[in-house]
Formats: sequence, structure tokens, C-alpha cells
Amino acid sequence: MQAVFDYLRNNDTAFLEQLRDYLRFPSVSAQPQHKADMRACADWAVSHCRLIGLQTRLCPTPGNPVILAGTPRRQGRPHYLVYGHYDVQPPDPLDLWKTPPFEARIEGDNLIARGSCDNKGQHFVHLKAVEAYLKTGTELPVDITFLIEGEEEVGSDHLVDFLKEHRQELACDGIVISDNGIPSLKHPALTYSLRGVAAMEVKLTGPSRDLHSGLFGGSVDNPAMALCQMLGSLRDRRGRITIPGFYDDVVKLSAYERRQLAKLPFSEGQYRKLLGVKALFGEQSYTAIEQRSARPTCEINGLTSGYQGAGSKTIIPSWASAKLTFRLVPDMKPKKIQQLVARHLKEVCPPTMRIELEVGHSGEPYLMSPTGPQAQAALRALKGAFGQESLLLREGGSIPIVNDFRKILGVDTLLLGLSLPDDNPHSPNEKFSLTCFRRGMAMSAKLWEELGALDR
Ligand code: BES
Ligand code: ZN
Repeated sequence: MQAVFDYLRNNDTAFLEQLRDYLRFPSVSAQPQHKADMRACADWAVSHCRLIGLQTRLCPTPGNPVILAGTPRRQGRPHYLVYGHYDVQPPDPLDLWKTPPFEARIEGDNLIARGSCDNKGQHFVHLKAVEAYLKTGTELPVDITFLIEGEEEVGSDHLVDFLKEHRQELACDGIVISDNGIPSLKHPALTYSLRGVAAMEVKLTGPSRDLHSGLFGGSVDNPAMALCQMLGSLRDRRGRITIPGFYDDVVKLSAYERRQLAKLPFSEGQYRKLLGVKALFGEQSYTAIEQRSARPTCEINGLTSGYQGAGSKTIIPSWASAKLTFRLVPDMKPKKIQQLVARHLKEVCPPTMRIELEVGHSGEPYLMSPTGPQAQAALRALKGAFGQESLLLREGGSIPIVNDFRKILGVDTLLLGLSLPDDNPHSPNEKFSLTCFRRGMAMSAKLWEELGALDR
């Protein structure tokens, strides 16, 4: 094992350069103009996996290709799947980046680029740990297959079918994912719950074209105003959602869990400063940690109508639209929530408006028991790498595919996040801490040892 750790330590400068190469591809899955970049990025990852010594293939899907790269399978050995995604969020707004998003730059302890923490940097850590075993001739205690997809940021539309088609080849003892966070370098953590998500779009159309607001205003309803009033009926001023039936399936937080969550490090002042908000917000009688990880939400992600150019334009816009997402907690069902939202919006839509509703992507919330042997093995690996006792975390973000792993492959996922609270995923100046990068590699190396030692 020492050879593995030495290899990781002696090569970390070279690893960093490789990661910078990986980060150079603008693999933005949401934007069709990046289709060729997606393919180029996948090709790079395939070559890199081969270089490491993994048996690798690029698997086409109706969308972006999936990369499968594995160590040779051995009879009777445990088999783990490491999941990651090579697609990234759009870098916009570009003017808020201090340096170009796809020219990864090192500043202090950080690597700054779109995709650095979400998710190229985080799954790269596992590739390097496996490389260290292979290149030093150290026997890997378990077989490992990497599954790296290119559509996570747009809902993993084609991955479920892919899992079903490759069910046999992907049969495994467990999944490992680093695509989430930890509270600080002093607080490594195993995440045992993620929120689900349900997306919707609503569009209201009033007049058949933009109208002169002086000539017609007062006699014709305004779609932007009508939409705002409708959206205003989704949530009260404290963040409690006012859609009938919305909370019906929410599992109450147990007193035990609330006590555990209360132990997580949290400073309201620092949190406020980190986010740049004037004041915090949220449902009464829940802490900020509970609000952002264990309670459901309703958010407007985009709101569009009327004139957005310079100066003023006196019109009644012809239409208004909004993109919405809801974060869900156990045992809420995305499809049911989408139905409740649709019913509610139709009910509150005034007779002056034509309403169009589009149901978007969705994913169920995830909850696993952190007391099982694999989770305990993961906690030991974290402790070994970070030198600190690990915490148990619920996270507010979503990785919907973990539920499909459970349904299709019948296994749970160890969520071993390496991202820090100020890493800015989905925001300008996304970064990944070099300390997390190094500790992540050590954690991964240890993890395979710990998992390999478990009774099956
Ligand atoms: N890495 C995130 C998910 C995440 C971040 C989970 C932090 C827990 C903590 C992932 O790439 C992501 O952004 N997922 C989307 C999923 C959506 C598009 C279905 C999300 O949560 O918005
Ligand atoms: Zn993301």
C-alpha cells in the first residue's frame, strides 16, 4: 500500500496538469453548440483511461456517449462502480469570471475552472487512485468499473436505459460517487441523503402580440402580472409551499436526526457572507441546515416576459413564462408533485390567459442507512485521508441516478463528496481545492482496501 501512496504523492503535479487538460473542454451538455466539445471531451477521457491501464470503451447513447472503463474482472472479487460526469454547467455569466472558465488556473490552494469540482476534478481523484494501484503493481482489493456520463447536468435522460441494457456487466456490490460536498477540510463526511427534484415550465399567453399599454392597458390582462400573481401563490413569505397536498408525503425529521444535524458546524454570519445575502430566509422552526437539505423547496429558476432592452417600452407583453424546480425529500414522489403543481397552476390561472404547462426532468430523493458495513468502511477511509472524525450529512443537491442504481442494480451509493462550501459549482469562478484533490486520492486508495476487507 505504501507504494500506492508514494505514487500518488510523487505524481501529483503531473496529475494536476492532466486534470487541467480535461478541464479545457467546454463540455456543456445543455447547449447544442457544444455537441462536438462533448464528444472531444469523452474521447480525451477514453484515451486517458486507457493510458492508466483500464479496459475502456466509449458507448454511444441517443444523447452524449457514456464511458465505461474498468480493471480486469476477477472471479469472486467484489466489484464497485465509480460514477462521475464529464458534462458541465454553462459558464454564464462570463463577465463574472476572473479568468476564462475553460483555462484552468491554479491560485493558492485552488484549481479554478468550470467543471473543476462539478464533476471532473472529483471523479478524476478516483481514476488516479486506481492508476496508482495499477502502475505500482499493487493488487487491487476489489474490481472497479468507472461509468462516466455526459448528461448529468441535464437530467441523465439516457442513463436509465443504459443501466438496464448493461445490467449484467454493471452488476456490483456498491456504487461510489464523489459529486457533492463536505462542510470544511476539518469535517470530512459521508452523505446519506440527497434531495430529489422535479422541473416544470409554465407559459401564459394573453394578447396575440405585444400591445400598446396606453391604448389597451386596463382593458386587457397582462401575462407578466398574471404569472407573477400565480407564482406568488406557490409559496408564502417564509418559504412554506402553499400548493394543496404538497407536504403530504414528507417524512418528518426524527428528533435523533435533528440532534445530529445540529452538531454540524454552522455559522449564520459566515453563511450569510458566503452567499452575499442581506438576511437569511426559510421555513419557520427549521434550522438553515435542515432547510437546505431536509426540507422541500419551490424555486423560480428563470422568469421571462416583455421588453428587456435599454430604456422603457410601454407594452403589454403577449406572453410570460417561468422555469420552476422543486427539491423533494423522502418520501415525496416527483410525478405526484408535478401533477399537484399543474393542477394548482391551472386552478389559479385567470380566465384571461391561455396556460401551457410542460413537465421537465425529475428525480426521487435518496436516503440510505449510514450504519451498514460499506458506509462504515467509507468513514474509515475518510478518516484516514483527512485525519479527522467524519460526519454524516444530508445534502440538498440531487443526483437522481442513485435511485436508479438502487432499482436496477440493487445497490446503495456511497456519496463521498470532496467539494467545499465555497467551491461555486454552477456559479462563476467554480473551483476545486488542491487539498481536497490530494486527500481525495488518498481516501479513494484507502477505500478500496477497506471495501476489499469486508465480508460479502
Ligand atoms: N454535483 C451536483 C449535485 C450535488 C451537489 C449533490 C452538491 C449534493 C451536493 C450535480 O452535478 C447537480 O448539479 N445535479 C443537479 C441535478 C439536476 C439537473 C437533476 C442539481 O442538483 O441541480
Ligand atoms: Zn452540477
